[in-house]
Amino acid sequence: MDGDSEGFIELDGIEKVFDVRRRAGLLRRERHQVRAVDGLSFRVARGEMVGYIGPNGAGKSTTIKMLTGILTPSAGRLRVAGIDPQRERTRLARRIGVVFGQRTTLWWDLPLIDSYRLVHRMYRIPDKRYQENLDRCVELLELGELLDVPVRQLSLGQRMRGDIAAALLHDPEVLYLDEPTIGLDVISKARVREFLRDLNAERRTTVLLTTHDLTDIEQLCQRVMVIDHGRLVYDGALTGLHEVGESERTLVVDLERELPPVELAGARVVKVEGPRQWLAFPASASAAPLVARIAAEYPLVDLSVREPDIESVIARMLSRRQIPEPAGPTPL
Ligand SMILES: Nc1ncnc2c1ncn2[C@@H]1O[C@H](COP(=O)(O)OP(=O)(O)O)[C@@H](O)[C@H]1O
Ligand SMILES: [Mg+2]
Repeated sequence: MDGDSEGFIELDGIEKVFDVRRRAGLLRRERHQVRAVDGLSFRVARGEMVGYIGPNGAGKSTTIKMLTGILTPSAGRLRVAGIDPQRERTRLARRIGVVFGQRTTLWWDLPLIDSYRLVHRMYRIPDKRYQENLDRCVELLELGELLDVPVRQLSLGQRMRGDIAAALLHDPEVLYLDEPTIGLDVISKARVREFLRDLNAERRTTVLLTTHDLTDIEQLCQRVMVIDHGRLVYDGALTGLHEVGESERTLVVDLERELPPVELAGARVVKVEGPRQWLAFPASASAAPLVARIAAEYPLVDLSVREPDIESVIARMLSRRQIPEPAGPTPL
């Protein structure tokens, strides 16, 4: 049976509990259970591009590892394209691609092109298809000059682009990206985002994207799911998340000299340091009218707008919801 378009990725009550041993004194070790994923249910339709965000340790990577079949859920039901990842990991592997930003799947000592040749053989990709996909990736991810360079010599941004190409040579229907833009410079980030947007638009590749960068989500995802302590706490549009969290952006204003706090309707001064002032305003509001008014009324030298980071957006959202505290580690 194939995955229907309603639920191309389906999770029902998924749990993952890790048994861990902790040193408790010189010789004694305590066994604990860590509930990394705690009753997770969601559906992603074919062709969707979904942001999957949450604080560190929330269970994002664990979810992705279960979706690829690397880890087995402790409880619940999981289907990707109609396949149980656990039971048919190899069959599923032909239909999914995965990129872990913190870890490369490329062969460290080999030139990039050799890794691609290995992928070609491993997945038995038809020659013509392989060549087409490789050409496309090389062009769009600008890999041409890098193909003969050993992976260990690539910069982080180059390596990441190389990894993304490797994950796509076999035409996967789903692409999981776990922090693909972490540590990348602005230009590499932009290139990766543009590539993903095209891929999703042209091939309808379903994408699940974990990131710490709100701009990734803003530019790529109609839908964002927030996970905290292994539970889904938000599923909807990013604008909705800003509203729920009443998140704020910050105007950083450099004045000609030290002045009393700026008085401006719709913004409030949260910090003053010499001639520099920080003004918070609702993330859902436009900065333009504020900027115009400050420029008209104050001796302005310079100004910039800071986006809220994901951690603070989530923290504000969580503080406004009444979520039961998680049980925490259970001693065995
Ligand atoms: N192999 C493992 N053994 C024990 N605990 C783990 C293992 N993998 C992850 N965890 C724990 O599970 C929780 C979720 O981890 P993870 O899925 O990596 O979070 P995220 O990717 O959201 O930062 C964390 O508390 C982490 O320490
Ligand atoms: Mg992670």
